[in-house]
Amino acid sequence: MRPKHKDLLGIEELETEEIELILDTASSFKEIGTRPIKKVPTLRGRTVVNLFFEPSTRTRASFEIAEKRLSADSVNLGSIGSSLSKGETLLDTARNLQAMAPDLLVMRHGSSGAPHFIARRCKTSVVNAGDGMHEHPTQALLDAFTIREHKGRLDGLRVVIAGDLLHSRVFRSNLWLLKKMGSEVTACGPPTLIPPGVRKLGAKVSRSLDEAVEGADVMMMLRVQLERMKGNYFPSAREYFRLYGLTPERLQRAQPDVILMHPGPMNRGIEIDSAVADGPYSVILDQVTNGVAVRMAVLYLLAGGGAEEKNATAG
Ligand code: CP
Repeated sequence: MRPKHKDLLGIEELETEEIELILDTASSFKEIGTRPIKKVPTLRGRTVVNLFFEPSTRTRASFEIAEKRLSADSVNLGSIGSSLSKGETLLDTARNLQAMAPDLLVMRHGSSGAPHFIARRCKTSVVNAGDGMHEHPTQALLDAFTIREHKGRLDGLRVVIAGDLLHSRVFRSNLWLLKKMGSEVTACGPPTLIPPGVRKLGAKVSRSLDEAVEGADVMMMLRVQLERMKGNYFPSAREYFRLYGLTPERLQRAQPDVILMHPGPMNRGIEIDSAVADGPYSVILDQVTNGVAVRMAVLYLLAGGGAEEKNATAG
């Protein structure tokens, strides 16, 4: 079975079987990262162009490492150093890259919908590596992989997603995914940072972290995205930490086997206390490790099967 889609643009359009396929494929790829020689020939001869038009550490490095582990050829472009800085449009950039026949475009962009715009106009498969405040599908997939690895399941879990939900593509992708897979999701944050329509998407809403954390199986803390805030969403960072910062005392109210997640980058002392981030319940670096396996799975499922099928039919 292959995903029905040419692209991976969001979790919203995925079916549960497709999510399970990606997670199961990632499970089989994870072991490659533990070998002394971390390389398989699976995508030899395929070309992936990584277009990162917004800063990134984890996603960018993770895609590049995933491509190298699968033996794909990678090309990396950002807004600085490409002809976008000379005024070329995003569509012209994508069409020129397509003319060089890559197999995949991986795109991060500050504008919501930018990868969808390119995917509709290019034959090349597009993977959304985070678009504005919309979706970050591979982050939600690696989060689900990590939860499943630690808890053995996704259904029936009590997951709290807390922080700046308004500006968060990670929140949107995780909400879609966790609801599809049967988790109970509580969205927690100050009223100014909870997007409208969250209840319609199936989340419970809590304005109190002290209440939300009670009995949680998974605590997922999200970054306060100061760079996207044009107004005053809360009085001060100190006040935010007092009400919405996850501390060891607060985490004690969760299930004894709670796991603590954060997609990064973290604001230590704002949404999360360092004692929690670096403490025994934290799986934050497991998320990063699993990101490579999940991205290997996505690259393989979108670019891996096609040529084999073409060769089979050509033969
Ligand atoms: N989680 C995440 O997307 O991090 P980066 O912005 O560093 O890629």
